[in-house]
Amino acid sequence: MVVSAGQVKKVGVIGAGTMGHGIAQAYAQEGYPVTITDVAKSALTGVKDRIKSNLGTLACEGLISEKEIENIMGRITVVDSLENAVRDADLVTEAVFEDLPTKTGIFHEMEKFCSPECLLASNTSSFPMTQISSQMERPERAIVTHWMNPPYLVPLVEVVPGEKTSEETYKTAHEILVKIKKVPVKVQKEILGFLINRIQSAMNREVYHLVEVGAASAEDIDRAVVTSLGFRLAFLGPLLVRDLAGLDVECKVADTILPVLDSSTQPNRLLKDMVDRGDYGTKTGKGFFSYTPESIAELIKERDRRFIHLLKELYY
Ligand SMILES: NC(=O)c1ccc[n+]([C@@H]2O[C@H](COP(=O)([O-])OP(=O)(O)OC[C@H]3O[C@@H](n4cnc5c(N)ncnc54)[C@H](O)[C@@H]3O)[C@@H](O)[C@H]2O)c1
Repeated sequence: MVVSAGQVKKVGVIGAGTMGHGIAQAYAQEGYPVTITDVAKSALTGVKDRIKSNLGTLACEGLISEKEIENIMGRITVVDSLENAVRDADLVTEAVFEDLPTKTGIFHEMEKFCSPECLLASNTSSFPMTQISSQMERPERAIVTHWMNPPYLVPLVEVVPGEKTSEETYKTAHEILVKIKKVPVKVQKEILGFLINRIQSAMNREVYHLVEVGAASAEDIDRAVVTSLGFRLAFLGPLLVRDLAGLDVECKVADTILPVLDSSTQPNRLLKDMVDRGDYGTKTGKGFFSYTPESIAELIKERDRRFIHLLKELYY
């Protein structure tokens, strides 16, 4: 037996990094008390400030009221052990480093402390739940719920059952995500990268190639994508876009273009060189563009502001 969506009263989150803090926030925003933990002290001490700052932006844009900030913050409890995070939870989401032995160990560990009906979800970007749950006594209650960054704003959550995941677990995961205003999409096969990381990787391989061969500047490539594909894809799926354009045209274009596209199976050389130099993007102040700590803070605020406008326009 696993909890039904209606029986979920408390939520646990393991890992308080980029994704964990945002997933905790998303549940707390919709009224759930959340307990969150991390092995890193710095993550634990900073998590509440991080969430409060995100909520401040939401309030500025009118998505929540100023008064709600304190209520939401009051629902979040930071604890210093996995045991304390899962003990009273009905649903737990793991969002630690993308490392299979770590995740497998955590799922094994969580079972020792959580209630028998507790649903256990992983935010893994790539590992099948069949592998993550390999040391579990009851793998039928484990499932992948793959959120996107920032998790408190991006609607999609990919839901990927493992070979042993029960229908009941899938149903609860789906229903609870709908309850917290997310858009769950079921991935029916445990394919590596699920749906979105595969689609994104296919596009990015060509984007890096275009920068590498100097087809246009990095600024112009981003601008071209935002004002065309991005503009359309905000509410039309790529298959519907193609149906509207005519599949005969698509077939002809593909005939000419596919043979010249980058088809490499390794990370792009330019990307690899940047990483080897220590240019990781905003994390280090330099990637395809350059940043200062102030410009990063401004960029994230502006990103969230625009995402909120889209959310209000298209989803609320
Ligand atoms: N960053 C993204 O855009 C994104 C999107 C979707 C999914 N994911 C996935 O989400 C997961 C987390 O990614 P992130 O970007 O938040 O990483 P992150 O590095 O920002 O945070 C991971 C956190 O996990 C903590 N941690 C590591 N081992 C732990 C343990 N045993 N117990 C408790 N905490 C532990 C770390 O201290 C760290 O604070 C990964 O599986 C990643 O692939 C990331």
